[in-house]
Amino acid sequence: MQKRNGLSWLRNTKKNPVDETAQTVAQTYSHRQKHANKREIIIKNETQIAGIRKSCHLTRDILDAITPRIAPGITTEQINTWVHEMTLAHGAIPAPLNYRGFPKSVCTSINEVICHGIPSPDRMLREGDILNVDVTSILDGYYGDSSRMFLIGDVSSEARKLVRVTRECMELGIAQVKPGNRLGDIGHAIQQHAEGHGYSVVRAFVGHGTGIHFHEAPDVMHYGAPHTGVEMIPGMVFTIEPMINAGDYQIRTLSDGWTAVTADGSLSAQWEHTVLVTEDGVEVLTA
Ligand code: MF3
Ligand code: CO
Ligand code: CO
Repeated sequence: MQKRNGLSWLRNTKKNPVDETAQTVAQTYSHRQKHANKREIIIKNETQIAGIRKSCHLTRDILDAITPRIAPGITTEQINTWVHEMTLAHGAIPAPLNYRGFPKSVCTSINEVICHGIPSPDRMLREGDILNVDVTSILDGYYGDSSRMFLIGDVSSEARKLVRVTRECMELGIAQVKPGNRLGDIGHAIQQHAEGHGYSVVRAFVGHGTGIHFHEAPDVMHYGAPHTGVEMIPGMVFTIEPMINAGDYQIRTLSDGWTAVTADGSLSAQWEHTVLVTEDGVEVLTA
């Protein structure tokens, strides 16, 4: 997920016209434009959608493949090795590796870890743990981003309920995806469901546009008000990835600079899909 940042606005993939004769002005403009474009929503064309779909399917297949292997006694380092090797075997690149200095090929987040947990040979999965595995592949330059929760052996009914409700939050968010609806509709649906169960929605990280870059505009908040925010348009591709805490939504980052944990030590869960806005609704690309 993406650290929260500023507002986003819309653009087509076509370059904005610049008057080449107005030299100085044009240069200044295109310099500004280059940076501004990073926060503009890229509406994907058919070629791009086909590529992103393939990458998303690979991400899904990797998650499917590791699922039966995840059990008590496995280390998060082993999960990293599986994801890394499977990704390369399919001619793809694991997006997390070296992304802004992230040291591994997948994020593994256990119990009170909200997200960005770093795989380690020292962390063996134990009976009762809840684990998020977040896989992002780059295939032919296109990104596919998805994460799932895993119950390790016998898990408390409280933890199982958090995992179930968080999945429902993601699904209720996805159900809001269609042209004409707004991003606030997604956030609102998620927040209502989470808070209705006495849980809290993490604010510090949000879903994000994706496909051409790892993290694109817009930010997709997992809380908010209906009929507010960016309007959804066919060709938009973004993630919905609610992080839901059993306690307070405040976060703390560990000294490794990555691992985000709940400030109060409560359990946290997350599910993530990459979705495409279609003419009449949604295609869940990582399903
Ligand atoms: N996959 C995460 C997301 O859902 C991002 C992980 S960034 C990393 O956006 F550097 F920690 F890998
Ligand atoms: Co994401
Ligand atoms: Co992810």
